[in-house]
Amino acid sequence: MLVKERLFTPGPVPLPPQVIKALGQQIIHHRTPEFTKIFKEVKAKLKKLLKTDRDVLVFTSSGTGSMEASVINFFSKGDKVLVINGGKFGQRWLELAKTFSLNPINYQIEWGKTYNQKEVEEIIDNNPDLKGILVQHSETSTTTYHDVEFLGKLAKKLDDCILVVDGITSVGVYEVYPEEIGIDILITGSQKALMLPPGLSILYYSEKAEKRLNKSDIPKYYFDVKKEAKKQAEGQTAYTTAINLIIALNESLSLILDEGLENLARRHSIMAEATREAVKSLGLKLLSESPSNSATGVYSPEGINGDALRKELLKIGFRVAGGQDHLKGKILRIAHMGYFDYMDVLQVIAGLEIALNKIGYKIEFGTGVKKAQEIIFSNL
Ligand SMILES: Cc1ncc(COP(=O)(O)O)c(C=O)c1O
Repeated sequence: MLVKERLFTPGPVPLPPQVIKALGQQIIHHRTPEFTKIFKEVKAKLKKLLKTDRDVLVFTSSGTGSMEASVINFFSKGDKVLVINGGKFGQRWLELAKTFSLNPINYQIEWGKTYNQKEVEEIIDNNPDLKGILVQHSETSTTTYHDVEFLGKLAKKLDDCILVVDGITSVGVYEVYPEEIGIDILITGSQKALMLPPGLSILYYSEKAEKRLNKSDIPKYYFDVKKEAKKQAEGQTAYTTAINLIIALNESLSLILDEGLENLARRHSIMAEATREAVKSLGLKLLSESPSNSATGVYSPEGINGDALRKELLKIGFRVAGGQDHLKGKILRIAHMGYFDYMDVLQVIAGLEIALNKIGYKIEFGTGVKKAQEIIFSNL
């Protein structure tokens, strides 16, 4: 029997046809005016995406590369930083901070929850020598949204403390304008809402962060922001870049900007709400108390292994993600970021209803689909 595989994982996500077409072209050489022209177009679009006049760097790496670049270029050994650690990727900030000899305060949050404003304020008040706050805007492992506006306001008041935001699953899902919010370093990756294959990471840094570049004493070679910024200002990259991905990025950024950032954020918010309400109507429990609009994490029903449920979904053509670490086998994560529309949401909910019934969790067909339809309908 033919079964099509539909990708509903929170990265990589499906590719739009325009991107696939761009990726299928013969390669061009990067040390050419032809490449420079395309790269400059990409840069101009990235500035629009983030509403900034500052250059936005592109690295050939997965998202973690730009996380590492943030730590090694804008801090020095021994710098005290606050890590807001609410999941797998918060933990990654902590590991990076430790690896490069920063002095991190680990603010551990229970997975699925967000930070407490008072507690964070207290930590900041008690640590006047704090050099940075590191956070995920959207913690993909727990599908949790952390409010960065509040942190931006705090960081703006501090002369020598920068706010570093992992926006890997928030840029292209929300309107994320670092200069309005007060984010000093914002990073993202290509395989999420930018609708590309993995291989590129993006790094924005503020004027306040730029002052750190000459002071940082951490060794760096490939992820050297100063060296890269100099080359990229001329429309080139320090090393051989992923040329075809840059060409495809030019296409996907056009799609994003043509839709409009406000429309894009609204679409994601409606898809997320429809997914959340649909799974709740099926009697399932959400993983997050502060859910992100990029993906919805949901507990597998009592007594049903999440990975077994995922297998049922895969049998009928839906690849969703499971849980990481202690959430393994307990949850499903259903993506709705990037190249997804409302009908994709209806499709995956319909599939989930079939998979749940197959595995022995009896629900009336159409319950979740109806809920999602109602939400979509009321927003059309
Ligand atoms: C929030 C977040 N941070 C960091 C990463 C790591 O990115 P990469 O796997 O591209 O290195 C991911 C990937 O899923 C992510 O979702």
